[in-house]
Amino acid sequence: NWSMDDFIDLQIQSIRETVGDRKVLLGLSGGVDSSVVGVLLHKAIGDQLTSIFVDHGLLRKGEAEQVMDSLEGKFGLNIVAVDARDRFLSKLEGVSEPEQKRKIIGNEFIQVFNDEAQKLDGIDFLAQGTLYTDVIESGTDTAQTIKSHHNVGGLPEDMHFQLIEPLRSLFKDEARELGEKLGMPSELVWRQPFPGPGLGIRVIGEITEEKLEIVRDSDLILREEIKKAGLDRDIWQYFTVLPGIRSVGVMGDGRTYDYTVGIRAVTSIDGMTADFAHIPWEVLSDISVRIVNEVKHVNRIVYDVTSKPPSTIEWE
Ligand code: XMP
Repeated sequence: NWSMDDFIDLQIQSIRETVGDRKVLLGLSGGVDSSVVGVLLHKAIGDQLTSIFVDHGLLRKGEAEQVMDSLEGKFGLNIVAVDARDRFLSKLEGVSEPEQKRKIIGNEFIQVFNDEAQKLDGIDFLAQGTLYTDVIESGTDTAQTIKSHHNVGGLPEDMHFQLIEPLRSLFKDEARELGEKLGMPSELVWRQPFPGPGLGIRVIGEITEEKLEIVRDSDLILREEIKKAGLDRDIWQYFTVLPGIRSVGVMGDGRTYDYTVGIRAVTSIDGMTADFAHIPWEVLSDISVRIVNEVKHVNRIVYDVTSKPPSTIEWE
């Protein structure tokens, strides 16, 4: 029977013993797990930790700034922030097939991460936010495999890191509790799951900056309204999707021919199965009105009422 305080003390002690005066690298995704690992390691070994945060241009509105403000600004982590937005967007130009998009984003991510890692001298350890569920799911010793969905998908042959995975024995809710104990802000600790390929799989088909902006802006409105309605901790994931179809509408005296935005919101225990969230009509109505009024080039909102299975949570 252990308490989270004991866990923190034990981990810090063990990290210090393992690392000694050597250096550790961490890939920050902006998600809960890697952020918690970052704050914990920084507490244990301070500036012996260097983190890399890749902005691939497929993040939600304000996300990159929030990670930097909080983890660098408030907690003092040493973060190499890489603005790779143009690089990703140009690689994705003209690509519309979902699996191909995922592959391009994944590969590019590894390359950017490795390029940056190689610039750093004398790193001995790589830290990761692996949770107990990841250990079970992979069914193998994760010391050998670096899961691509942790956003650090493989390292060059000539880099031999030892892995540090302080969350290996924790479930997601325990990782969140740990984050709260470490004084992390609740926006970070209670962040909903976000896929590695980010908004790249929420713009259906070819990705353009214009479409990304529609998803970013509508997603922010959705998040604000869900929070305002007090539903943010009950819904597993909620986000907007741009299917890329346009339809006819009327605004003022004029005909419009603009995009449809889809709203996806699901309840789930682990993401393996899910039910569409039964959001009150009034809340949906507020969301719809705001998105159409505030986001340019949108004249229609639809709500996704399918469960998983047969659908998946993401549309791509
Ligand atoms: P699906 O769409 O398969 O999603 O029902 C299940 C959960 O996994 C997330 N997801 C991903 N997470 N990399 C990730 O880290 C990915 O490529 C990826 N694809 C889907 C999704 O957001 C949901 O929580």
